[in-house]
Amino acid sequence: MQVLCLLCWAVLLNLVQACPESCECGEKYGFQIADCAYRDLEAVPLGFPANVTTLSLSANKLPGLPEGAFREVPLLQSLWLAHNEIRSVAAGALAPLGHLKSLDLSHNLISEFAWSDLHNLSALQLLKMDSNELASIPRDAFRSLHALRSLQLNHNRLHALAEGTFAPLTALSHLQINDNPFDCTCGIVWFKTWALATAVSIPEQDNIACTSPHVLKGTPLRRLPPLPCSAPSVQLSYQPSQDGAELRPGFVLALHCDVDGQPAPQLHWHIHTPGGTVEIASPNVGADGRALPGALAASGRPRFQAFANGSLLIPDFGKLEEGTYSCLATNELGSAESSVNVALATPGEGGEDVLGRRFHGKAVEGKGCYTVDNEVQPSGPEDNVVIIYLSRAGAPEAATAAEGKPAQPLSGLLLLGQSLLVVFLACF
Ligand SMILES: *[C@@H]1O[C@H](CO)[C@@H](O)[C@H](O)[C@H]1NC(C)=O
Ligand SMILES: *[C@@H]1O[C@H](CO)[C@@H](O)[C@H](O)[C@H]1NC(C)=O
Ligand SMILES: *[C@@H]1O[C@H](CO)[C@@H](O)[C@H](O)[C@H]1NC(C)=O
Repeated sequence: MQVLCLLCWAVLLNLVQACPESCECGEKYGFQIADCAYRDLEAVPLGFPANVTTLSLSANKLPGLPEGAFREVPLLQSLWLAHNEIRSVAAGALAPLGHLKSLDLSHNLISEFAWSDLHNLSALQLLKMDSNELASIPRDAFRSLHALRSLQLNHNRLHALAEGTFAPLTALSHLQINDNPFDCTCGIVWFKTWALATAVSIPEQDNIACTSPHVLKGTPLRRLPPLPCSAPSVQLSYQPSQDGAELRPGFVLALHCDVDGQPAPQLHWHIHTPGGTVEIASPNVGADGRALPGALAASGRPRFQAFANGSLLIPDFGKLEEGTYSCLATNELGSAESSVNVALATPGEGGEDVLGRRFHGKAVEGKGCYTVDNEVQPSGPEDNVVIIYLSRAGAPEAATAAEGKPAQPLSGLLLLGQSLLVVFLACF
C-alpha cells in the first residue's frame, strides 16, 4: 500500500514537474537542468518543463535537428549537442532560442546548417561547431553575435572565408579555426592580415594552413608569401571611335572592355534596352562569332557577341539596340563596372537616349553635317559615357545612294567634367 502510494506521489510529481522518461530534470545553482546525455536518443525527446535553462543531449544518436526541435524550451541558455550524428540543422531549429548563451554542436557531421538562425541568437557567448563537415560560412552568418566570446570552427572543411566574416564579433576573444583545408588564393589574404593584427587569441596557428594550390600545401597561413592579387578594373572603349566614324544603317557597334585584375576576373555584360534586359556571361561566342556550346542561343550567331578578348560586337546596330551597355568584372577581391549609354539619332530629327534625355542634330552651315546641342549632359557614374550616333535614316535606298559618293565623316569630342560625351557625326 505504502509502495503504491509512493508511486502515486511520483506520478503526481511528474505531472507538476514534467521530464522526459530518458532524461533527468532538476535544479542546480538556480538553473533548471535537463540531462539527457549518453542515452542513444535518436530524436529530441518531448515533455520538458518549460523553464529548462540547460539541456544536455550530448553523446546520443540524433541524426539532425528539425524545425521546432526545441519549441518546448524557449528559455534555454545552454544547449549541449556534441558527439551526435547530426548532419543537418534545419531553419527554425535554433532561431526560437533567443536566450541561448552557449551552444555546442561539435563532433557531429553537420554539412547543412541554417546560418540565418544565428541572426536571432544575439545573446550567444560560446559557439562550438568544431569537428563537423562545414564547407563554407556565409559572409553575414555572425552579424548579430555581438556578445560572442568564443568561436570554434576547427576541423571542418572550410576552404575559403569571406572577407569580413568575423568583423561583427566585437566581443570575440577566442577563435579556433585550425585544421581546415584552406585554398590559399587571393581570397584568403585578408584573413592572414586580419589574424596577424587582431587581439583575438587564435591558437594552433601552424595548423591553419593551405591545402591548395599544390605549391603552397602545408604552408601556414601566417607564412603565406605575398600573392599577386588585385581587384578588377575595367575600361570601356568603343568603335567606331571618334576618328573617321562613317555611320551607315547596319553598322557594327564594337565595345571593348579592357579588364585588369588578378586572378583573372570573370566578365559579364549587362545590356538594358527599352525592349528588355540581357545578361551575358562572357564569352558567349568563339573567335569565329559562332555561339559556344552551352550558350543560350537558338541561332548560330547571338545578337550580342561577347568574345573572350573582352569585345562585344553588335552587328546591324539599330534602334532596338539603343540602351545602356555595362561590363562587369568580378574576382574574389571585388568587382568593377563601366557603362556606356548608346543612342541613335537621325540627322535633323534628333532623338532621345534611354535615360529620356532629348538631343537633336543641327545642320552645320553649308556642310550637311550635324552637331549636337550641349544640353545633353552625361549623368550617373563618373565613368558613364554617352555615345550618340547620328546616322542616316534607315531607308535602304538612302544607304545605297550614300555609297556612291565618298562620305566625309566628321566627329566631335566634348569633355564634360569627368565624363565623356562622344558625338559621332555622319556627313552625307
Ligand atoms: C521550474 O518550474 C517548476 C515547475 O514546473 C518549478 O518547480 C521550479 O521551481 C521552476 N524553476 C525555476 C528556476 O523557475
Ligand atoms: C527570436 O527569439 C525571440 C526570443 O528572444 C523569439 O520570441 C522569436 O520568436 C525568435 N524568432 C524566430 C524567428 O524564431
Ligand atoms: C576580339 O576578337 C574579335 C573576334 O575575333 C575581333 O573582332 C575583335 O577585334 C577583337 N578585339 C580586340 C580588341 O582585339
